[in-house]
Formats: sequence, structure tokens, C-alpha cells
Amino acid sequence: LKDERESLMIVSSFAQKFFTRYLWNENEGRTIGLSYFRERSFRDDVLKKFEVGFAPDGKTPFTEAAQKQGYKIDFLEKTGLTIVRDDWQRDRFAGRVIFPIHNLAGRVIAFGGRILKEDKKTAKYLNSPESEIYHKSKVLYGIYQAKRSITKNEKCYLVEGYTDVLSMHQAGIENVVASSGTALTPDQIRLMKRFSPNITIIYDGDEAGIKASLRGIDLVLEEGMNVKVLLLPDGEDPDSFAKKMGASGFTNYIRENETDFIQFKTRLLLKTTENDPVAKARLITDVIRSISVIPDSITRSVYIKECSKLLSVNEEVLYTEVRKQKSKQT
Ligand code: CTP
Ligand code: MN
Ligand code: MN
Ligand code: MN
Ligand code: MN
Repeated sequence: LKDERESLMIVSSFAQKFFTRYLWNENEGRTIGLSYFRERSFRDDVLKKFEVGFAPDGKTPFTEAAQKQGYKIDFLEKTGLTIVRDDWQRDRFAGRVIFPIHNLAGRVIAFGGRILKEDKKTAKYLNSPESEIYHKSKVLYGIYQAKRSITKNEKCYLVEGYTDVLSMHQAGIENVVASSGTALTPDQIRLMKRFSPNITIIYDGDEAGIKASLRGIDLVLEEGMNVKVLLLPDGEDPDSFAKKMGASGFTNYIRENETDFIQFKTRLLLKTTENDPVAKARLITDVIRSISVIPDSITRSVYIKECSKLLSVNEEVLYTEVRKQKSKQT
């Protein structure tokens, strides 16, 4: 089985090199793929750092090239690079720009492929299926390129997507990883924790992003880590916003608008509660629930103090509520 994993990584590495070479050196790759990245203002050094590529359009140009080099169809199928049925085969990523996904050691284990022109019928991104080397729920996009910077800066930014990671690097922020659309998992959080206990979530500034941030907060707290949140203006994501603001504008925005999770939740929920006491009570319960999942009691008490100030509720009352919540959890 170790041999099988190694074989899958070797095929994946071949595919990455093929797609990257195709992007930079072949006419189709340059006119379609490279132009696409350039239209989105990605710099060459960033494209090279992430080893992005382009998969030729057509039924099986990639599969044929791989087989000509001696790669077995069995491994092409197991990595999902080729879709194999009884009576036909086709390249999974044909005609898409390619974002290779690296493991901690920098080896390619999977791919994300984006269509160039969005339409309602086709999924914007296609990803490799689960395999012996790729377990979606344990992987963070960009961790290999980010790990040194996470340790150095004692903090990890968490974003949604591939292009968010690239754009943040382009703006000089390298301690960033993406959950890549999948709902954040405890394994992904533990992976970040190996490098720093501090996470700042910068999800998209839309309803889905806000919902995912709220869910992410509790998961991160449960792992005993510190979590901050940065809310982007409506309709922006880190990629679009970094490009709009420029590198220094974006860095300043982060510095000025990063808030701890209690402020994030209270501000967000206060907007909807106004002076309704029932709604305010619900908000308090919500914040209390988040505080109660924090494993460390000193950290809990710091947040209870802050919550008491922000919401003008007696600290003792909050302690009682946290205790109630905790007893429900076990
Ligand atoms: N995603 C996915 N499949 C989809 C849509 C999204 O796997 N059909 C994942 C991708 O990893 C994507 C992330 O979810 O990067 C965030 O989705 P979204 O915000 O819709 O895309 P962006 O990352 O903003 O992509 P782009 O800027 O290229 O439009
Ligand atoms: Mn396995
Ligand atoms: Mn999104
Ligand atoms: Mn987005
Ligand atoms: Mn985007």
C-alpha cells in the first residue's frame, strides 16, 4: 500500500509538470490559460510558486501523453486524472486552469481545476476525488507554501479559495491557507495548530461566508485555539479585495478591521436585534455557547469579562450560563 501511494504521487507529479509546461510553453496553454491568469492580474512569480497549469481541451490528450510516458491507466484512474468507464475514457480537467494541491512535504496529491468562462451548467471548480493520497477533510490548500510564514508570524489566515491564497501571497501575506469550499474540519484546524495557535478567518463577504465564519469560530475554539475574524465588504473576497485595495491598502484594512470573535458575533447580531430584548437574550446565549466550548478556563474568563462589557450583562450571570452550557455538552 505504501508503494501504491508512492505511485499515485508520482503520477500526480507528472501531471502537475505536464499541466505547468502546457500553460507556459504550448500555444493553447498560453493563449487560453496564461491569458486568463494575466487578465486576473496574477504575477508570474506567484503562478510559478503555486505551480499552476492548464489542462489541454479535448477528450484524452492528457491521458494519452501520460500513457505514452508509461503511466498505467489504473493510477490515472485512482488519482481521478482520467475518468474511466467500460466503454470510454476522458480527461477530468480538460480545458481548465489547474491549481495543484500539495501536502506538507510539498508533493502534489490532488488538483483543483477552474473553467475559464462561468456558466450556469458547469461547476466552476472541479476537484480530484478522494484517493489513497488525498483526503479532502485533512488537507489545507497552500499549507506547504505557508508553513514557514505561519510559524514566523505566529498566525494563520484562513480563506475560502485557491485564488484568495494566491492573491494574498501577491500582496505579501504568505501565512494563508484555504479550506477550499469544503466545510472546515477539526483535522484541518489541527493541521494549522501544528504551526500556530492563532487563526484569523477571512471568508467571503457574503451570507455564505458569514455563516461559515460563525461555524468556523466554534470549531477553532473547541480545538483550544484563538480565533479572530475579518469581515470583508459585501460581495468581496480576499482576491477581489486585495486587487481593489492594493497590497498596502489591503494590509492596512486587515490590521484595522480584524476583530476577536466576541466582537464579531455581537456586532453582527446586534445589527439584527436593535432594541428587542428577546433577540438580545438569544444573542447572549449564542455568544455564551461559543465561550463555553473553550477548553481553557482562564481564556474563558477573559472572554466573559469582554462579553459582560460589550453586552452590559453582569459577569456572574454569564458565568452561570457558561456552566449550564458546559454541563449540556458532556
Ligand atoms: N469550490 C469548489 N467547487 C465549486 C465552487 C467552489 O470546490 N463549484 C471551492 C474552490 O476551492 C473555491 C472555493 O470553494 O476556490 C471558494 O468558492 P468561491 O468563492 O465560489 O470561488 P473563488 O475562490 O472566489 O473563485 P474565483 O475567484 O476563481 O471565482
Ligand atoms: Mn489513506
Ligand atoms: Mn464564496
Ligand atoms: Mn470567493
Ligand atoms: Mn473569487
